[in-house]
Amino acid sequence: MAMMQTWLQILILCLSIILTAGEGIQHENTSFSFIFNHFNATTTIKYVADASLQSNAIRLTNHSDRLVGRAFYDKAIPMKRNGSVISFSTSFIFAMVPQRKSGGGDGVCFIMTPTPLLNGGVASQYLGLVNMSSDGKEYNHLFAVEFDTMESIGMQEKDSNHVGIDLNGVKSLLAESAGYWEQNRFTPIKLKSGHNIRAWIDYDGASKQLEISIAAIGEARPQKALVSKKDLDLNGIMQEYMYVGFSASTGSSPLVEDHYILAWSFTTGNNKASDIDILHLPSFYVKNRKFYKSTKFIYITIICSMAFILGLILSAFYWVKRMDYIEFYEKWELQYWPQRFNYRKLNLATKGFRDDNLLGYGGFGRVYRGTLPSGDEIAVKCITKDFTQGMQEFMAEISSLGRLQHRNLVHLRGWGRKNTRLFIVYDYMFNGSLERNLFSPELNLTWAQRYRILTDVAAGILYLHEEWEKCVVHRDIKSSNVLLDHDLNGRVGDFGLARLYDHSEKPQTTHLVGTLGYIAPELIHSGKASPSTDVFRFGALMLEVACGRKPVDAQGVILVQWVWDLYADERLLEAVDQRLGDDYDKIKVEIVLILGLMCSNPDPNERLSMRKVLQVLCGEASLPTSLRVPSAFELSRIDIADLNSFTATPLNLSE
Ligand SMILES: *[C@@H]1O[C@H](CO)[C@@H](O)[C@H](O)[C@H]1NC(C)=O
Ligand SMILES: *[C@@H]1O[C@H](CO)[C@@H](O)[C@H](O)[C@H]1NC(C)=O
Ligand SMILES: *[C@@H]1O[C@H](CO)[C@@H](O)[C@H](O)[C@H]1NC(C)=O
Ligand SMILES: *[C@@H]1O[C@H](CO)[C@@H](O)[C@H](O)[C@H]1NC(C)=O
Ligand SMILES: *[C@@H]1O[C@H](CO)[C@@H](O)[C@H](O)[C@H]1NC(C)=O
Ligand SMILES: *[C@@H]1O[C@H](CO)[C@@H](O)[C@H](O)[C@H]1NC(C)=O
Repeated sequence: MAMMQTWLQILILCLSIILTAGEGIQHENTSFSFIFNHFNATTTIKYVADASLQSNAIRLTNHSDRLVGRAFYDKAIPMKRNGSVISFSTSFIFAMVPQRKSGGGDGVCFIMTPTPLLNGGVASQYLGLVNMSSDGKEYNHLFAVEFDTMESIGMQEKDSNHVGIDLNGVKSLLAESAGYWEQNRFTPIKLKSGHNIRAWIDYDGASKQLEISIAAIGEARPQKALVSKKDLDLNGIMQEYMYVGFSASTGSSPLVEDHYILAWSFTTGNNKASDIDILHLPSFYVKNRKFYKSTKFIYITIICSMAFILGLILSAFYWVKRMDYIEFYEKWELQYWPQRFNYRKLNLATKGFRDDNLLGYGGFGRVYRGTLPSGDEIAVKCITKDFTQGMQEFMAEISSLGRLQHRNLVHLRGWGRKNTRLFIVYDYMFNGSLERNLFSPELNLTWAQRYRILTDVAAGILYLHEEWEKCVVHRDIKSSNVLLDHDLNGRVGDFGLARLYDHSEKPQTTHLVGTLGYIAPELIHSGKASPSTDVFRFGALMLEVACGRKPVDAQGVILVQWVWDLYADERLLEAVDQRLGDDYDKIKVEIVLILGLMCSNPDPNERLSMRKVLQVLCGEASLPTSLRVPSAFELSRIDIADLNSFTATPLNLSE
């Protein structure tokens, strides 16, 4: 009994040793597994055709046309034990990344094949598995699970988003639309979304059952398989050793996509494939990828570039406009700088030289009213005369005249220049010119006002002639150049400006300056302006003010001659302006008329000096008694001067 027991024990022991040894052998010989949570240069993967390593993933194809790529674990794996196919289990993560929303194709497959080569596999609907002639042939010994994103014509495929079992070719033994089951509820998965998708493939060698599941990354393995095939005998397919891996292909653009395998675990035997670490996987899904390829994007790009171009054009315009304001100074201008006005400032002050701001036309150009930022009112004379020469000398004079300061001169504030346009800036005179005040029907200066204005003008001219550091000859004294400020003080304007004619003309031509009826006869002959010729003009002005008549009236009557004639007839007071009525001081009117005659004597030696004129007007000196009536010949010289010389001059006398 004891012997029996001992033998039994020995038997059990031996059996168990054999059994455990057998298990150990079975395990050692038939179980094989690996896991790649990512791929790198050292991972034992064999890349075939267009497949390559990219971003720690296997990229079977990119999105070029008609590519085929395969990748295998680089060792053949024993798939049979004692002549029958053993169980295997694999899990992997793939991504199919189309380049266009409407595009994407063809697909990726898990494959088991006897050779790690391309083996004649072609692109497009053949998925890199087989070619037209080898499709379906038993010699392929090909087991594949396709994740197909094309509905291939003539292959009775379910749709363009399916998972199928393929044996020896691309015609699926069984296929299902991609998705997963969750308590009898099916949720589709779009394979070519670009998102990472996880797949599980399990084959039970004993029951010959194949189960395939897929799920979005992060989801648990579905309880119910997507594709389940019972009694699938793979004995004819599998050889002793098989290479495992993947195959993918692309079609023709836009039916192309990138195919990636991001992680992979595989095992044979009865164990399930190890779980993959999904946390550190790359993502090939690009947000808004489709947007960049969309027509909307193209439109927006076009609109943006048009807006950009428009912006460029506008800024170019702005720049050009700015350039218009940029002033170029010549070296000599800098010494007159302090009185120089910037063109931009003048442009602003006169609101862009608008017609609303036009005060009138002067001998040289337009005059505009303007307001400086300080609130000061200015008058800007725009001289459009072409200065080919003499500009520099003239500017030197103008800027020295800017230093003239007298209460009876219109204050010259400065000047500006813009290319060939010259601007002279004066204080604005509220009551306009003496001419306007004398001859406008709505205005009626009283005698007292007229007398005071004449005294003012005389003081201003005297200052120009004698009281400043240099003798300044005005050259163009006339009622329109006498301006009245807001208190009706007379102020002489435009002094020195007449020299513009000299400067801008060729030096050899002596040019006469002045306005008809104000020109001293000797000026015609000598061409030399002097204080005395200014006195002549002032004399004419005095007569004009007292008589309320223009120096040359519409009938061509020359005022100076007319008054001389009246004086000769002792009818002097008949010359007095009718508009004054009786409301004037007869003595003072007579003084003004006689002074006017004395000053506008054709003989320069008979004329008074401005000092004397002012003294008489102010009552500081008495009227000189010797008033010689000029001869008819002398008087006629005024006539000749006016009629012959001035009708032919090119001067603008229309002021
Ligand atoms: C490649 O992957 C293996 C396995 O994960 C890892 O041990 C190795 O360090 C990696 N090599 C490089 C160069 O990243
Ligand atoms: C795609 O891969 C092929 C083959 O590897 C290569 O010739 C081609 O330049 C690649 N195209 C792109 C867009 O990367
Ligand atoms: C192998 O198969 C043969 C016959 O097919 C059988 O007799 C034998 O028991 C099998 N061995 C194992 C270990 O399954
Ligand atoms: C098709 O594939 C087989 C191998 O499977 C190969 O021998 C044959 O040359 C291929 N045919 C073409 C046209 O590529
Ligand atoms: C002008 O004013 C004076 C008073 O200074 C007056 O006597 C005369 O009638 C006025 N003349 C006109 C035309 O208004
Ligand atoms: C002169 O100008 C001032 C201020 O603008 C005004 O009040 C006055 O009425 C004007 N005088 C004449 C005579 O126009």
